[in-house]
Amino acid sequence: MTVRPATPADGPAIGAIVRGLPDFFTPDVPDTVATDLGHHESWVVADDEEVVGFAVVDRRSARAVELLWAAVAADRRGAGLGTWLVEAVLAELAAGGVDLVEVRTLDRSAGYGPYEATLGFWEARGFVQVDAVDPYPGWQPGNPCAIYVAALAPTR
Ligand SMILES: CC(C)(COP(=O)(O)OP(=O)(O)OC[C@H]1O[C@@H](n2cnc3c(N)ncnc32)[C@H](O)[C@@H]1OP(=O)(O)O)[C@@H](O)C(=O)NCCC(=O)NCCS
Repeated sequence: MTVRPATPADGPAIGAIVRGLPDFFTPDVPDTVATDLGHHESWVVADDEEVVGFAVVDRRSARAVELLWAAVAADRRGAGLGTWLVEAVLAELAAGGVDLVEVRTLDRSAGYGPYEATLGFWEARGFVQVDAVDPYPGWQPGNPCAIYVAALAPTR
């Protein structure tokens, strides 16, 4: 299993991963992810040559980023790949001077079962919920936003 920077050649595999997770991503997301891949730092986790997960990061400042997208292929979830990917990305960001990482995701108040595992994943990775915003600007009504933050280093 390797984590490496994504290249344009990974686009189709990443698109297939997103389309394979319809319980998590609406039909507009593959196009949004494709655009984001062209504008932001991205990584993939690969099993041999096969891309099985990806992450996209938006730099907000020298010390803060948002983890915009992270996903593992539907049939490979729950086997540690997401942890492997996120830990590698966070280690690289920390080595480059990043102190804070934000994740926005669907809040528990939505009562939507599939995201329980997602929230559990971020919480197990040390992300702390700092806010819930409903409605969230730009998000569809009925999708309360949970804002999580993880500190990679002390900030004071
Ligand atoms: C979220 C995601 C990237 C995690 O990757 P993964 O490879 O499935 O995750 P891992 O196997 O490394 O870790 C799973 C961990 O999540 C947590 N988890 C999983 N299901 C859970 C549940 N129902 N309740 C609470 N925690 C849960 C556990 O901590 C679990 O670790 P454990 O098995 O050691 O207890 C992946 O499942 C995914 O692509 N989900 C769909 C898309 C998505 O939600 N992306 C993030 C949007 S913000």
